[in-house]
Amino acid sequence: MRVKMMAAAVTGLLAVSALAGCGGGDDKGSGGDDGKLVLGFSQVGAESGWRTANTKDIQAEAAAAGFELKFSDAGGKQEQQIAAIRGFITQKVDVIAFSPVVTSGWDAVLKEAKDADIPVILTDRAVDSQDTSLYKTFLGSDFVEEGKKAGNWLVKEYEGKNEPVNVVELQGTTGSAPAIDRQKGFAEAIKANPNIKIVKAQTGDFKRADGKTVMEQFLQSTPDIDVLYAHNDDMGLGAIEAIEAAGKKPGKDIKIITVDAVKDGMTALAAGKINYIVECSPLLGKQLMDLAKKVKAGEDVPQRVLTEETTFTPEQAKAALPDRKY
Ligand code: AHR
Repeated sequence: MRVKMMAAAVTGLLAVSALAGCGGGDDKGSGGDDGKLVLGFSQVGAESGWRTANTKDIQAEAAAAGFELKFSDAGGKQEQQIAAIRGFITQKVDVIAFSPVVTSGWDAVLKEAKDADIPVILTDRAVDSQDTSLYKTFLGSDFVEEGKKAGNWLVKEYEGKNEPVNVVELQGTTGSAPAIDRQKGFAEAIKANPNIKIVKAQTGDFKRADGKTVMEQFLQSTPDIDVLYAHNDDMGLGAIEAIEAAGKKPGKDIKIITVDAVKDGMTALAAGKINYIVECSPLLGKQLMDLAKKVKAGEDVPQRVLTEETTFTPEQAKAALPDRKY
């Protein structure tokens, strides 16, 4: 079993390294043959526009920093991420970074990396390991805060009105940090307003197609939907298709709040089909490379590095779109 997983990891590494033009899958020992820092990065997958932008940024910043990047795409599967990390350990990379698909189940592989003396950096998503010595730092957003920002907007939008507000929630990948925390933050923000009720909640796995399918089901089962809260733009965009197909106007008949602020989401916001977007920045590459350099050099780094983020109304989206990089 272990041999099979290892073989899959090495195959994945070779394929993606060739694609990214970032070096081969041969065992280089500590540091690349050419003295470059070797960074093994295990990505969640390619489930959303956010993820694509995050991957591009990490590849570009690794090249700019002069690192050798061994990039592996897990296709949304934790077992593939674990196999990729084990592959990085076998190859004796200098630093391992990864964005965990889900929060739990990482202790064993993180312990293997620690025993091999390879520092690990968490990017974008957290793990629930109690032993924080298993990784050096966690770089990414505060997802609870993102959920709160979404909920606070909604509370303000209905301020002074006591009529019932029926909310449906399209959640991210089950068990992932952003799905858990965005749900939590939103629930906290609306809890003092009993007229605002989450009448349906289901995962759309952060994917556009799933967002559409689940929204179709919501529309069939729940006649009076006032608001959609989607944990990312992609699911919100899929839901917009379902809402329009049902003869309703997104942004008017059903108000929509999403998270991310990728170009497609911002375009829909500027067009009035989404009402509010909470930003989650995928541009983590530069900070990741700086942290990798430091942990490799044995320097202290903060346990938590937060990403700076904002929110967008339709007017702000119109102003920001011409310069939006992703
Ligand atoms: O972990 C970040 C989340 O993952 C983004 O909000 C979502 O779009 C992505 O798939």
